[in-house]
Amino acid sequence: GSILIINGPNLNLLGTREPAIYGSETLSDVESSAKSLASSHGLTLETFQSNHEGHIIDRIHQAAGFGPNGDGKKHVDWIIINPGALTHTSVGLRDALTGVSIPFVECHISNVHAREEFRHKSFLSDKAVAVIAGLGTFGYTAAVDFVAKKIKAGK
Ligand code: DQA
Repeated sequence: GSILIINGPNLNLLGTREPAIYGSETLSDVESSAKSLASSHGLTLETFQSNHEGHIIDRIHQAAGFGPNGDGKKHVDWIIINPGALTHTSVGLRDALTGVSIPFVECHISNVHAREEFRHKSFLSDKAVAVIAGLGTFGYTAAVDFVAKKIKAGK
């Protein structure tokens, strides 16, 4: 089984960006704990971060074996995605995720519903298997454990 964690715009700044909201852990802290957790479940886990919508869409296509060098085979069983601000804006990201039909968990560090009105709307949530918000960076841990359980159950 294999999992892909995608982080969108500005999440490369984790640890220094608005620490009162996003905490002090860096993205590489988050990614390395997710990797060791996945391997403790016998799963492989890849990570990807980009500030560019199109690069994220390309990475999703690649996970499904589409695109240049694509072999038409799915390499990834599940996606865990924190789309950052693209959550609230991107029909393209929604279409990419639904287009490849790889099940995904939408994960937000902060409780977006307790913040500005424009963060309450997500273009992804109704297509996600699960949505996590407000658990801090523990949300990624929770997502990996959840996905591991699903993969073990053959889903
Ligand atoms: C975020 C919430 C988004 O509204 C924001 O644009 C982010 C991070 C979160 O993890 O809480 O960049 O997805």
